[in-house]
Order: sequence, then C-alpha cells, then structure tokens
Amino acid sequence: MTNYDGNDTIYVRELGIDDIAPIYHLGEELFTSDLYPYLYRTWDEWEVIGLYNTDAEYCLVAETDGELAGFILGTIITKTSWTYGYILWLGVSPKFQRRGVADKLVDKVVSRMIEDGARFMLVDTDPTNTSALKFFNRKGFGNVRQHIFLSMNLSKHELYGRLIDYEHQKAERAGYRRSRPAIRARKPDSAANEIILNPLVKSQTNEEESPI
Ligand SMILES: CC(C)(COP(=O)(O)OP(=O)(O)OC[C@H]1O[C@@H](n2cnc3c(N)ncnc32)[C@H](O)[C@@H]1OP(=O)(O)O)[C@@H](O)C(=O)NCCC(=O)NCCS
Repeated sequence: MTNYDGNDTIYVRELGIDDIAPIYHLGEELFTSDLYPYLYRTWDEWEVIGLYNTDAEYCLVAETDGELAGFILGTIITKTSWTYGYILWLGVSPKFQRRGVADKLVDKVVSRMIEDGARFMLVDTDPTNTSALKFFNRKGFGNVRQHIFLSMNLSKHELYGRLIDYEHQKAERAGYRRSRPAIRARKPDSAANEIILNPLVKSQTNEEESPI
C-alpha cells in the first residue's frame, strides 16, 4: 500500500455502474464478521446492486486522484408523517482513513436527504466499532439505543435432525443405485431405455416429497 500524503482533493460523486464491483470488494475488506457478527447485516453484492437500483441518489463514492477512497449507501424511510434518512453502509479505504473522506460523504448524503424531506437520521453499527461510533458522535449522531438480537442454533432443532436423517437416507439410496449400472447397459435401443428409465424417474419423484 502506498502512503497517501493527504494533499489530493476528495471528490464526491454519485455511484456509477462501474463502481459496483470495486465498492463490493472494498466493503468485503471493511465489513468483516468481527464488525458485523449478525446475519441481519450481511455485506454482499446485492447490497450495492439493490441500493444502486432503488436509491441511486443516496449512493455516493469519494475519489481521490481517480482512486476509490470510500462510499456511502443510504435510503429514505417514510413512516406516517416522519421521514428518516438511513445510512446503511459507510466505508473508507484504510489507505484514506482519517482524512475527512467519511465526513464529506456523510455531509453530502445528509444534505440530499434534508432536501428530500428527511427530518431524522439513523445509522447502526456494532457496539464495539469504536471508530465508527466516534465518527458518528462527532457528526452529531447521539441518542444511542441498544437493540438486542437473539439467536438459536437450529442444528439442535428436532425438525432439523429429521431433515438431516432424511438427507442421509437419500444419499445412501442414491449410492446404492449408482452401484448397479449394469441394468441400463443391457438395453441398447432407446425405446427399451425409456422402459427402464421410467420407473427410475418415478422413484426419484417420490423421494423429492417432503420428509415431513
Ligand atoms: C468509520 C469510518 C467510515 C471513518 O472514516 P474516515 O474517513 O476515516 O473518517 P474521517 O476522517 O472523516 O473521521 C473524522 C473523525 O471521526 C473519528 N474517527 C474516525 N476514525 C477513527 C478511529 N479509527 N479512531 C478514533 N476516531 C476516529 C475522529 O473523531 C475523526 O476526526 P480526527 O481524525 O480529527 O480525530 C472508517 O473508519 C471505516 O470505513 N471503518 C470501517 C467500516 C465502518 O465501520 N463503517 C461504519 C458503519 S457502516
């Protein structure tokens, strides 16, 4: 990584189609499972593609000397008479952090959201993400509310156990069938093959039925 001297101008613009892959890869680097251990906040390409489709005006990138420095992806939520601006993802390349990139991105998206009627801003992150918390506090975000997420490991669920048993039995039956290839080989013409194959198809169809 080359050192960034901090003298180049930070240029903020709307996300274009060619930005989708670089943003996705930068996000992969930043939004690790340590930062987002919950499935409700999973970074994948659909986050970028989906928001680019639905909320292009709140999807911005920051560039420095033609290089991707950071991005912000947001949306607007309207509930009864309230309109909220919601920052879903904000990421700055490690090379450009602490240079005011996020500052510029948030300022730009907030001003757009105000113009579009937002009277409240929302953002969420993991409680251990101190850099983001410091950043957002400095930007004026406060009124912190803790939200508890509960989880359950379904591998211990009775229904899951039955499904696994069923899959094992199915795999065993498939293995048994594969070990008897001679049946089809004995019938050379296609009409005869059809006769042989039909019962096979029928038995497969029966297996696809729900185990429950
Ligand atoms: C949080 C994040 C977006 C900040 O981006 P940034 O461009 O470095 O932020 P800025 O340069 O605009 O920071 C402005 C201020 O935020 C605070 N801040 C930012 N990073 C900080 C850090 N690592 N430690 C402490 N404070 C920090 C400081 O108050 C800073 O001002 P200062 O540099 O004068 O002390 C960036 O660290 C990042 O991409 N983190 C990983 C992804 C993430 O957590 N995203 C947010 C949740 S979606």
